[in-house]
Amino acid sequence: MKQFFSVADVDDLRGIVEEALRLKKDPFAFEDLGKRKTLGLVFLNPSLRTRLSTQKAAIQLGMDVMVMNMDKDGWALETRDGVAMDGKTVEHIREAAAVMGQYCDVLGIRSFPKLQDREEDYSEGLFKKFISFCGVPVVSLESATRHPLQSLTDLITIREHWQQDRKPKVVMAWGPHVKALPQAVPNSFSEWMCKAQMEGIVDFTIAYPQGYALSEAFTPGATVTNTLEDALQGADFVYVKNWSSYEDYGKIHPVSEKWMLDNGKLALTNQAKVMHCLPVRRDVELASEVLDGPNSLVIQEASNRVWAAQAVLKRMLEQLN
Ligand code: CP
Repeated sequence: MKQFFSVADVDDLRGIVEEALRLKKDPFAFEDLGKRKTLGLVFLNPSLRTRLSTQKAAIQLGMDVMVMNMDKDGWALETRDGVAMDGKTVEHIREAAAVMGQYCDVLGIRSFPKLQDREEDYSEGLFKKFISFCGVPVVSLESATRHPLQSLTDLITIREHWQQDRKPKVVMAWGPHVKALPQAVPNSFSEWMCKAQMEGIVDFTIAYPQGYALSEAFTPGATVTNTLEDALQGADFVYVKNWSSYEDYGKIHPVSEKWMLDNGKLALTNQAKVMHCLPVRRDVELASEVLDGPNSLVIQEASNRVWAAQAVLKRMLEQLN
């Protein structure tokens, strides 16, 4: 594996999930694979889970890890080509990425969208340039449009908590929020679930209020509804997430219906397990009674971030060695 940017970078969905679960059973089985190899983690935005779980995964594979908080500690990056850098930016991504590639065998980068210009965000210009200039394998730690380590984790978590013969009904449900959030997590979850649905692993439904449709590029084959209660009927997993409007890009529309999942709404499901990528705003996006209740998988899900990262890094190291 030379890059991990989207579900398209995985040719065996079931295989990588099983690989991650084997690593969970035996975390140090490949502790020499990454010996004398360095992982660089570059953050242009905050992180708790992605930072710590990816570091832990790399350490368990024997790698050394360097972390760069580019937003706080790095030079202000220029990403445009053909402009005289006579403003605030100090270093061009061409040099910055190439230099980091000299120090690291694998790089990870996180860069959120600005939510101002949809075409610019959805072109993934920064990521594409970083991948092209650094010269080493790159793992996305969340880009403008996708969060693949989170989505692989989510599929692992569903696989781990589903032992029945039939396919589970997985529902991604929009939840309220006070801020405009990117579409990266829901795009990515949908992209992975749509592929899992195509492979007969899940049945997938998305529920959101009017005005919150995701780009159709990320939802092929998904059942879509604007009524949360309809979606929740018979659900086995409910994945709660807020996102801002894709159509009216980056905006928050007023929503009159109650979309926050609470125990009353959860009762409509098939005793569904509840997932959220975290961080979550309690009693805004998701009710505390659900988060603290027996159906919540949010901590197990965060724990599985390690095994998703370890499976991806293992594949990258195998290709290097
Ligand atoms: N879910 C997730 O990516 O968490 P962090 O933003 O804390 O890394």
